[in-house]
Amino acid sequence: MAAVPRPHHLLRTLKIPVLVMLAVAAFGVVEQPRPARALDTPPYKDPALSVTARVNDLLSRMSLDDKVGQMTQAERAALNPVSDLATYRIGSVLSGGGSVPSPNSATGWADMYDNFQRQSTSTPLGIPMIYGVDAVHGHNNVGGATIFPHNIGLGATRDPDLAQRVGRATAEEVTGTGVDWTFAPCLCVARDDRWGRTYESFSENPQLVSQLTTIVTGFQGPSLGGSASILATAKHYIGDGGTTGGDDQGNTQLSEADLRAIHLPPFRAAVERGVGSVMISYSSWNGQKLHGNRYLITDVLKGELRFTGFVVSDWAAIDQLDGQQGFTADEVRTAVNAGIDMVMVPTDYKRFISLLKSEVEAGRVTTARIDDANRRILTKKFELGLFERPLTDRSFTSTVGSAAHRALAREAVRKSQVLLKNDGGLLPLGKQGGKIFVAGKSADDIGNQSGGWTITWQGSSGPITSGTTILQGIRDKVGSGATVTYNRDGTGIDSSYRAAIAVVGETPYAEGQGDRPSSLALDATDLATLSRLRASGVPVIVVLVSGRPMDIASQIGGWKALVAAWLPGTEGGGVADVLFGDHAPTGKLPMTWMREFSQQPINNGDGKPALFDYGYGLTYSTTTPTPTPTPTPTPTPTPTPTPTPGGLGCKVAYKVGSQWQGGFNGDVTINVTGAAVNGWTLTFAFTGDQRVSNAWNARVTQSGAQVTAADGGWNGQIPVGGSASFGFTASVGGTNAPPAGFSLNGVPCSTV
Ligand code: GLC
Repeated sequence: MAAVPRPHHLLRTLKIPVLVMLAVAAFGVVEQPRPARALDTPPYKDPALSVTARVNDLLSRMSLDDKVGQMTQAERAALNPVSDLATYRIGSVLSGGGSVPSPNSATGWADMYDNFQRQSTSTPLGIPMIYGVDAVHGHNNVGGATIFPHNIGLGATRDPDLAQRVGRATAEEVTGTGVDWTFAPCLCVARDDRWGRTYESFSENPQLVSQLTTIVTGFQGPSLGGSASILATAKHYIGDGGTTGGDDQGNTQLSEADLRAIHLPPFRAAVERGVGSVMISYSSWNGQKLHGNRYLITDVLKGELRFTGFVVSDWAAIDQLDGQQGFTADEVRTAVNAGIDMVMVPTDYKRFISLLKSEVEAGRVTTARIDDANRRILTKKFELGLFERPLTDRSFTSTVGSAAHRALAREAVRKSQVLLKNDGGLLPLGKQGGKIFVAGKSADDIGNQSGGWTITWQGSSGPITSGTTILQGIRDKVGSGATVTYNRDGTGIDSSYRAAIAVVGETPYAEGQGDRPSSLALDATDLATLSRLRASGVPVIVVLVSGRPMDIASQIGGWKALVAAWLPGTEGGGVADVLFGDHAPTGKLPMTWMREFSQQPINNGDGKPALFDYGYGLTYSTTTPTPTPTPTPTPTPTPTPTPTPGGLGCKVAYKVGSQWQGGFNGDVTINVTGAAVNGWTLTFAFTGDQRVSNAWNARVTQSGAQVTAADGGWNGQIPVGGSASFGFTASVGGTNAPPAGFSLNGVPCSTV
């Protein structure tokens, strides 16, 4: 089977320098002095030559075995013995989800990679293999790696630059483990939230998905081959997110015009960015499997879009072409002739190689098709620099899970939070005073907050890798300023708490195992926790950790606030950054949020009344938590109110938001009539033994019974007929009688 090194290889090597000297003598052609190449170095090994020249030279030296081997991708665990890599001239190895070395550490990966690579380069032609992995939200198979928010969260950030920086950080961690190629980004346009891969999609909106293809540049660099440059993959071509019913690997029933309008733009954008590979979708288009669709792969992707990288199949996807188990010669031929250049076999690579060779020898797959596939694959290997630098660049190994990358991930978490409800301006929570209760199955669970494709293919609940849970982020944020009590199911909550944070949602899943054809409701565990919290009367803040919008309309009425956190990954501190106001929420919905499950699929512009529209997201009127007054504020003179034109009228609504033994939350709304206000100060006097300990959306101070609340600067303007709200936490001894004597900028207000 192995190609025996043929004598003419050596002869051809010696002839070239002689020809050059003759040319110079005959035509006076004076070539630029180039670094002298050792006589026995074949041109394809000369980095001074163009990639095209190197590919041409190498191709001319390759046997059919060599070429068919380059089109074969095998799973790491299937290579037995590992020397099969050399024996069968296999051009690529992959780790499927969760397929990891032992130890599953950055160094463990680098050692594994180098071992495989030494096998590949031991062959007569020494063609390096290219190693692919699903680094879809960081280098997520690797223990201790930074896990970034899944794509749906990045979609909520609306931040192409951030996406690029996430790609770059991921590329550094991937490079540090030897790996050259990530099967990312998924450029799926998820149109039905029942689909188990919705969280792998940036958005239902193809334009937003296209904008975030900056992550490709993050992975690859401005061009392949730079420092920590890895090959990116635009996947899954085409229409994976548009299947009927959100059925994973199902059937996308669309006209060609709609397929092109909805699902093609992100691939066009990625190709324009120079994406090096495209992975084909398992799904079908109007009943035809994409893996056999020559029109879409060769005519549209390679022809019309002028994609010059290589096309890779999905995992054992060609097996599905005939609907039977395993793969046949027909399926191999159909897939390769449709335009697939590399087949992710991934286990029975010997049979694949044998069948493809036979198809070529029988003329049913042309040599031209084989050579085209090899040109595409080899071009990327040369561009990546694999021939010059085949082994791990260990200068990046220490970046795996580095503080800098975790800080970037935390920024991505912050920016992905979408505030969907905030009654009475309950958020941001103050860091000082009182007690905060935290509950929910995903409050203290790295696995849940990371979702699928984390350490294992499906992901799993529990402490699966290092990072900061959302609970820990809350504790870190509050420090000793307030008491934080945690109980997973809410046991122990009572009215002595000023707020309850419930972190609920979905447990991890991937691909079809995440399909939810009949319900997207919260599970019984979450509903029981929420019920327990609500029964206490304490205001409930829900943090939803999920891979998609969930069916919550029937529940949300009992929640004071709601934050969609998506699947944030290892840096749960980013959620606390928003909850406590160190960063105001800026996220916007990347998906339309259903009012009821029966609306699925529901997308922007389809006329269905959503609970929250695509693009919806609230923020705080304060960008930092209201400065907390010291528990015994030093007496300060009542500021002279900004003079306000005559005619100003005001009405104040004051209510106790929640009350506990010895304390309460007060909510104040100022309604303005008669004249607009540009800067306000509200004064009032407590009539009982109340003392403010914390406030939000206003700067609140207290001297004796006299309380002064001044606007935060950013919420100082109140138009005629408008209003402004703020809140506070206060201690109370005895009865909690309402305050009296509200005045706005010196103008007495009525109370409602
Ligand atoms: C999977 C997925 C694909 C992934 C590949 C390799 O089945 O569909 O997204 O890149 O196999 O793990």
